Amino acid sequence: MRSLIDIIDFELSELEDLLALAEGIIDRPGDFSKSAEGKILATLFFEPSTRTRLSFESAMLSLGGGTLGFSDSASSSTTKGESLRDTVRTVGCYSDIIAMRHPREGAATLAAPAAGVPVINAGDGGHCHPTQTLGDLLTLRREKGKVDGLTIGLCGDLKYGRTVHSLINALRLYSGVKLVLVSPKELALPEHIRGGALASMAWSETTDLDEALPGLDMLYMTRVQGERFDDPREFERLRDSYILTAEKMRRAPRDMIVMHPLPRVNEISTDVDSDVRAAYFRQVQNGKYARMALLLAVLQGRYPERAAPPLRHDHVCKNPRCITHLERGVIESFTGQDGELRCYYCEAPVKQ
Ligand code: NCD
Repeated sequence: MRSLIDIIDFELSELEDLLALAEGIIDRPGDFSKSAEGKILATLFFEPSTRTRLSFESAMLSLGGGTLGFSDSASSSTTKGESLRDTVRTVGCYSDIIAMRHPREGAATLAAPAAGVPVINAGDGGHCHPTQTLGDLLTLRREKGKVDGLTIGLCGDLKYGRTVHSLINALRLYSGVKLVLVSPKELALPEHIRGGALASMAWSETTDLDEALPGLDMLYMTRVQGERFDDPREFERLRDSYILTAEKMRRAPRDMIVMHPLPRVNEISTDVDSDVRAAYFRQVQNGKYARMALLLAVLQGRYPERAAPPLRHDHVCKNPRCITHLERGVIESFTGQDGELRCYYCEAPVKQ
């Protein structure tokens, strides 16, 4: 059965099929209220989360299934020194599907083959967050009627913001999408996205949100990810780089929507909430429906499994946040051609 580790595991036709299924669920929720009866979702959250975990649990309960899990690695056997692969292998014996979040990049890629049941990546460090993207795409479809041809501003922490990374990887599949990247230089988009998805897209980059606003169909605000900074002073300096206010919204087009994966800290002032263009709480609701569609599709084996890419084992990953540096006994693995080799787990490029 297919797992969802990275949004690129799905082709455009599969993503569109999932989003159509989510819209079917929104229109006729009663038809799906027993669809996962007798099935168990395990939510393994090694990193704090409220909305994503509750969104998964709410999605499973609304499909008639059950849930179990933990929301803090301190309450799992990780504290006894158990490996990630042993944990998921054990939990795979108690459940039909696993949603996991982990602070290390590449954790879900490593865990999935050990689980024995499909694994859904609910966020791996600063790497990716594909189920947030499903909710984001559903929001675009419902708010803007389409994704093709939109001009999308991505603002804030583009370096550590995993929601942005997965969203860009998905937007690349649509035609005519233009990206405007708005961030301080220190929080600019990482190399693996620039060399990957971005290379085939139309995009521009600025540090000035005011300058970008008038040309956008959607503005995606993000929180500066304090927990991923090595230097707390650097975080203090950058945390309030952008604050969207009702005053700034006057510069934005009348039909531009504002999205945010939440939680919001300071980056959207509460005076924007009453603006009809503020779509972030509708986005939360869509996230649940997108997860319902995903759980259902994966449990039904709707999409066939895909073959793993060919791997090489002749390097060592240099990304200190990669799961390979935490888990014992991992065989370092790399994909891609010479010159653009990247870690199979965290996707960090190998500098050659
Ligand atoms: C995001 C995440 O965890 O990456 N939140 C979420 O899943 N809703 C964004 C964030 O934490 O800033």
